[in-house]
Amino acid sequence: MYCVRKVTEDLYWVGGNDRRLALFENIHPIPGGVSYNSYLLLDEKTVLFDTVDWSICRQFLENIRSVLADRDLDYIIINHVEPDHAACVEEIILRYPNVKIVCTQKAAMFMRQFGFNIGEQVIEVKEGDSMSFGKHEMIFVSAPMVHWPEAMVTFDTTDGILFSADAFGSFGSLDGKLFNDEVNYDRDWIDDARRYYTNIVGKYGPHVQNLLKKASKLDIKYICPLHGLVWRNDFGYLLDKYDKWSRYEPEEKGVMIVYGTMYGGTEAAANDLATRLVKKGMTNVVMYDVSNTHVSYLISEAFKYSHVVLASVTYNLKIYPPMLNYIMDMKALNLQKRTFTLIENGSWAPQSEKLMHELLDQMKEMTILENEVSLNSIMKEDDSELMEATADSIIESMK
Ligand code: FEO
Repeated sequence: MYCVRKVTEDLYWVGGNDRRLALFENIHPIPGGVSYNSYLLLDEKTVLFDTVDWSICRQFLENIRSVLADRDLDYIIINHVEPDHAACVEEIILRYPNVKIVCTQKAAMFMRQFGFNIGEQVIEVKEGDSMSFGKHEMIFVSAPMVHWPEAMVTFDTTDGILFSADAFGSFGSLDGKLFNDEVNYDRDWIDDARRYYTNIVGKYGPHVQNLLKKASKLDIKYICPLHGLVWRNDFGYLLDKYDKWSRYEPEEKGVMIVYGTMYGGTEAAANDLATRLVKKGMTNVVMYDVSNTHVSYLISEAFKYSHVVLASVTYNLKIYPPMLNYIMDMKALNLQKRTFTLIENGSWAPQSEKLMHELLDQMKEMTILENEVSLNSIMKEDDSELMEATADSIIESMK
């Protein structure tokens, strides 16, 4: 059974949801599923915007058939080639052999590289090009590295619709809702949106800033991303989040404590520090066990909070492996501008503080507070003074 929704008078959402996939990109858990969005315009010509992941192709084809009724499909605009969006291009060509593919030169190259048989029916476009499909005129805006180098976004100047590719997307299935004003975004969506952005696009902040600058010149009335909700109002909320994330500015003053513990000693020290912070009035504190929290959640939280405490046991004279993985992921995703506090633990040769410090020094604009705590096996009464000073230094650095 087809399942579509109208976005505007002549634009339909024809995508679908995947609630079976455990790991997005085979890395990131998506317990709330994900949507793959595609849009179909009925103008003098019919125009499909991107396709969907192979997993929901059947639903997608039913959706297209129902909206087209007895019309042919004239064009597909491919904004982004990653297979969670372009996987069904060949299937569309098989069913609508007259269709023309509109995309960047690099997108055509990537599709052929992936083995898609896209034939010769490709119209290559570049920054600033435009096409008219009847009432609707589209302009094409390149958006390299948001999230791949071939990416572009398309702007419908007639209705003010930005087809934004991966930008402004989110994890999470739509569950019948489509528009941002049909959900409680702050309660139900922002954490998934942040986790999606920071883990998928987070590394490319300067490129996102470029796209935001270009978007600021457009009279946008709708944002139609390839994942998640369609935005039709309250753009300031979303643009502010994207601006902060892409400049690596924290959203909140607060302390994220991440601990790596084997037998509970390091965890107890982390609890002690958290308690001292809260007693001193800093109640915006969150704690995570690095061993049982997927790193994608830890990345997302590090983009949110201003201060990060890393408390790590020493393991084989190195940083505890899950903590090392987390730090390397923060480095890979280009996280910047955070204030760190380091706590190490070790029963005979604590090493993790020095090693964590060295890694953080390789990242941009990271501040490491001086009260570094070194524990032997467990925190003891004698360590209280240093832990108190550590809590004070964190609070002082927030002023
Ligand atoms: Fe949702 Fe970069 O693909």
